[in-house]
Amino acid sequence: MKICIIGTGYVGLVSGTCFADLGNEVICVDRDNNKIENLKKGKVPIFEPGLEELIKKNSKNKTLKFSTNINKSIKDSKIIFICVGTPTNIKTKNVNLRYVYQVTQSIKKNINNYKIIVNKSTVPLTTGDKIERILNSKKNKNKFEVVSNPEFLREGEAIRDFCYPDRVIVGTNSKKANKILRSLYLPLIKKDSRYINTSRRSAEMIKYASNAFLATKISYINELANLCEKTSVDVKEVSLGMGLDQRIGERFLRAGAAYGGSCFPKDTKALIYTADKFKINLSIVKNVIKFNEKRKKLPINKIHKILGKNLKNKIITFLGVTFKAGTDDMRESSSNIIIPYLSKKNAQIRYYEPTGYKNNFKKLKNVKFFDKIKDACNLSDLIIIHTDWNEFKQLNFKKLVNKKNIKVFDMRNLYSITKMKNNNIKYFGIGR
Ligand code: UGA
Repeated sequence: MKICIIGTGYVGLVSGTCFADLGNEVICVDRDNNKIENLKKGKVPIFEPGLEELIKKNSKNKTLKFSTNINKSIKDSKIIFICVGTPTNIKTKNVNLRYVYQVTQSIKKNINNYKIIVNKSTVPLTTGDKIERILNSKKNKNKFEVVSNPEFLREGEAIRDFCYPDRVIVGTNSKKANKILRSLYLPLIKKDSRYINTSRRSAEMIKYASNAFLATKISYINELANLCEKTSVDVKEVSLGMGLDQRIGERFLRAGAAYGGSCFPKDTKALIYTADKFKINLSIVKNVIKFNEKRKKLPINKIHKILGKNLKNKIITFLGVTFKAGTDDMRESSSNIIIPYLSKKNAQIRYYEPTGYKNNFKKLKNVKFFDKIKDACNLSDLIIIHTDWNEFKQLNFKKLVNKKNIKVFDMRNLYSITKMKNNNIKYFGIGR
């Protein structure tokens, strides 16, 4: 099938590449010339395991192409995926749909035969209706269908999530569009996953409802972690015991600092905005947002508890600074709050991060990037395991730190309390 993907950000690039890998003819379009030229050379702008190899393979096979020519790419394709960013509008706090509507205008001009316009960007309820209204004209009558097909890709696991989806949601009332999209997804839905055809609005709602639910699940265990800590209970044991009940499920029950990333914080707020507009009070999600905001300060309080009030010249080492493992994404990462705070307190901050140096801390004093864990940890007063990268899961702190009084604050609860105690390491987790 001939597919045009508009927007070569995270979602567009992963989806386009995977569709090409399934044997479709895919053209990925972006207005950023530089990005497209780099992609043509196989240079990928984001860190996502497996993506670069897959882009190279399919570019070589000529199933995957890159272009800045949006008009021609739309005309030449049958299915058009809208995959542009929907950032939060800083003033209104609502989702900024400018890019979605700009792309819609381009599509409107280039509908030359029957096309399915699939929106994959995360957009508020009823956006599909508005896209349809924009596209409607005498010339375009009966020549298009607007479908909502939300993505459920986790950063760092996106290729796997695309190839082995738990579900594929296709929101359309059109039998014809549904049939075509079903056949597009057929190679994936054979693998035990479920293809669900819903109304367009339901599909839009499912995306936000899923992210808000996962954010709620995390916040629930995070709030319980506070109680566990006060009562000498290990939240990890509680998660395990709860999660084995299949009605609850073990995933997204890991307690930690506030949840981050570009999706949960943004999507929970967008859902509230929509609900308020329809005069519905989503009180649970509102509390989740409030709780998570408050929780952002938790690591700072812990660091003071461990090192005392005065942090001047204390050597503090961060292992990982991204919002989670498997990504180079710094959006809504707790390190963006903790590191500037420590820098103001005149601590000596070091960080080791598998995805390299981060511009976020460029202007801060006393913040240094190290490309070896050992150098970052040597003689450190406190090691903070900030991100759950696999390479942090079996460290020999005694060898790394080279001093007697070793202190570790594990924001991801990766280590056994007993083993740490036996090794004479002062170990602090979350909710344990
Ligand atoms: C999330 C969803 O998981 C995807 O299904 C969705 O498609 C995506 O948002 C999106 O809307 O595009 P992502 O933001 O990549 O994916 O990251 P997650 O793996 O969901 O993690 C989000 C945050 O929750 C991270 O800060 C992570 O550390 C935290 N988390 C996750 C926990 O604190 N505990 C857990 O048990 C799981």
